[in-house]
Amino acid sequence: MPKRRPVRALVRPIALDRDAARLPALFRSFDSKAYQQRVQGIDPDRLAAFLAERVADAAKTQLTWTAERRGKLVGLAALQTSHWHSAHCGFPMGKVTQLMTAPGEHDALAPMLAIAEGAARRAKLHHLAGRIDAHDFHAQEILTQHRWYPVGTSVKFAVRLDPASAADAAEGLTVRPHRSSDRARLLEIAAQSHEENHLHFDPHLPSKGTHAIFAQWVEMCLDGQAAQVWVAELGGETVGFVTILVPRALNAALGTKIAVLDFIVLAAEVKGRGLGSALLAAVHAKVAQSGFDQIELRTTATNFAAVNLYARHGYRLTGCDQVFGRWLRREGLRTRAEASA
Ligand SMILES: CC(C)(COP(=O)(O)OP(=O)(O)OC[C@H]1O[C@@H](n2cnc3c(N)ncnc32)[C@H](O)[C@@H]1OP(=O)(O)O)[C@@H](O)C(=O)NCCC(=O)NCCS
Repeated sequence: MPKRRPVRALVRPIALDRDAARLPALFRSFDSKAYQQRVQGIDPDRLAAFLAERVADAAKTQLTWTAERRGKLVGLAALQTSHWHSAHCGFPMGKVTQLMTAPGEHDALAPMLAIAEGAARRAKLHHLAGRIDAHDFHAQEILTQHRWYPVGTSVKFAVRLDPASAADAAEGLTVRPHRSSDRARLLEIAAQSHEENHLHFDPHLPSKGTHAIFAQWVEMCLDGQAAQVWVAELGGETVGFVTILVPRALNAALGTKIAVLDFIVLAAEVKGRGLGSALLAAVHAKVAQSGFDQIELRTTATNFAAVNLYARHGYRLTGCDQVFGRWLRREGLRTRAEASA
């Protein structure tokens, strides 16, 4: 019997009149998300509709492509310029966002990468970042064949909060809302403490730049990006803090009460004494008191202190992405030391 010729995936710019109504089915096709949705009490159809709407909205201002095979959407990719990252690192950077292929449709990835990289080169970008579901080993292989290199594994956790929890911080720790006078000390603590970050792991990004990006993010959180900032004091000294974000659009669309723990950090001199645990318990109580019933967060899988802290506090592992970088210049891959020199 003659072999059936495989149908190649057709990759082209998104057209909302053609694609918008087909996006939810693409988001619904990822069975690997079922556990997360169960843990977080998220309705898969509402989530798919929300994500589809977000992609359609973003597509009005950023290049977005879909892959289609036999009349079905099987892949998605978008290109975004990272302006403030570029300013700190000293060269133009971008991100391939929404990078996904439906289960069993990995071979749509290569033509999507080719198109996104072509657009990035035309935009004169030097560096791209991207992430893909860690379940998708085949896609990861394709990314490495296309000279993308892994820079970290990002894990997602979620915990349901106990509405009655009223933990006052133990271990002599006091936890209070942040004040504008805390700023310099909080930035100092953040700067000395946060090394477990895929930006820092990328050999092409200068260490000075990645630290400046992180510092700016913390400043943005203190300036209002974070809905809550909790400060930990020990014997009158500020020794740590936690930033909480609120995904308002997501909560409104899904009817959820999710808060996002963006960052928890302790000053270097008080780490390793269990204070992280006391701080997290106090923050759980405060976040629950402000009306949220769960917290979700992301961290790097190799951040053992953070992962074990969350495990001790009942967090469930709900997702895992592999994060990649791609250097688009002709020069070869540099080592971290060469890049920072
Ligand atoms: C995350 C952080 C707040 C934890 O605070 P901490 O009180 O110092 O945490 P600990 O050192 O007590 O470690 C927490 C848990 O991880 C374990 N742990 C720490 N380092 C570990 C390692 N290298 N390997 C395995 N387990 C480790 C500890 O044993 C502890 O588990 P246990 O309570 O079951 O004994 C602190 O490490 C920090 O400020 N890190 C830098 C900022 C950061 O990465 N934040 C998270 C990003 S979202």
